[in-house]
Amino acid sequence: MTTLRIPGPLDPHVHLRGLDWKHKGTMHSETSAALAGGYSAVLDMPNAVPTTTSAAGLARKREELAHQAVCDWGIYYGAHPDGNAETFPAAMPHVIGLKIYCDPTTGDLFLTGEARERHFAAWREHGLVAVHAEEEEVAAMLELVDAYGVHTHFCHISTGTELSLLRKAKERDLPISVGVCPHHLYLTVEDRTRLGPRAWMKPPLKTHGDREALWSALLDGLVDVVESDHAPHAWDEKQAASPAYGVPGLETTLPLLGSEVVRGRITPERLIELTSSAPRRIFGIPCPDDTWTELELGVEGVIEGARMKALCGWTPFEGFALQARVSEVRLRGQTAYDGENVRVPPGYGQPVTQVRERR
Ligand code: NCD
Ligand code: ZN
Repeated sequence: MTTLRIPGPLDPHVHLRGLDWKHKGTMHSETSAALAGGYSAVLDMPNAVPTTTSAAGLARKREELAHQAVCDWGIYYGAHPDGNAETFPAAMPHVIGLKIYCDPTTGDLFLTGEARERHFAAWREHGLVAVHAEEEEVAAMLELVDAYGVHTHFCHISTGTELSLLRKAKERDLPISVGVCPHHLYLTVEDRTRLGPRAWMKPPLKTHGDREALWSALLDGLVDVVESDHAPHAWDEKQAASPAYGVPGLETTLPLLGSEVVRGRITPERLIELTSSAPRRIFGIPCPDDTWTELELGVEGVIEGARMKALCGWTPFEGFALQARVSEVRLRGQTAYDGENVRVPPGYGQPVTQVRERR
């Protein structure tokens, strides 16, 4: 067994819930899941209820995180289809970027053409947008990046076609970054029958060919970060006639990637780049002092939803064999997670410090 020390892993795409969605997860339960998954910091998306699209929504989320979070946190502001660009200047100092939804998913923040461009342009001064864009929406968003020069992070890319568009855009030096999710790296449409609603997420699972394209792009450097898109829903919501989209992922990403280091598929350096250095560089968030995660490599394990700290208690990776486990998370000089338990009180997590223009 060896131990890999990762400086302050940061997951730039999570949905922590809380607020009016405490039945799905609380700021405390889901930041505990982050620590158990080895993450010292997470960036939270705006689509819970109430949405983070107004001063009041933002204030409520900040307060709840300040009281409950056990890992460090940053917040995305959301573009609202009814138009909320006039609230941007007041929100900017408190958030790490703007999320724009270009495809329908959980919540009601779906923006079409004209509204999309208006909000994108209004966010220009802040300099960081994250987009949910699939297939032709990727091409449409790249046109806006070209026109306005705003750094844009393309979340949860899942197809070979999307990767080709993004590769060409990077060759043209457009200011973009690319994220992929473990569920698209490990599961395909063929798992849908076996997993039922556990396989329902946006973007949906794709083909073997797409999965292979994602792995190639992850290994050749086109992909910048692995992000969990941790989006837990209560089990009864997943079993409803039209199940909620989204799967938990905070506790499985680092053990899954660590297992690939053991198998020789990725190098330890690449794992650190994808889960720590690249997200910290792209989002401009320096690693605090005395902050690192130890990942034990070569220890056998199995993924079990019932043992997770995430409130939902299920995972699309149930039964997956692991060869890596998180044994400690050190956060600003404290052992925040000891391999079994969270060791810091609610509120120990701090808002991340963002240094603008570091990308
Ligand atoms: C997310 C959720 O439930 O909040 N669901 C998902 O399938 N990824 C919303 C999203 O980001 O699409
Ligand atoms: Zn998401």
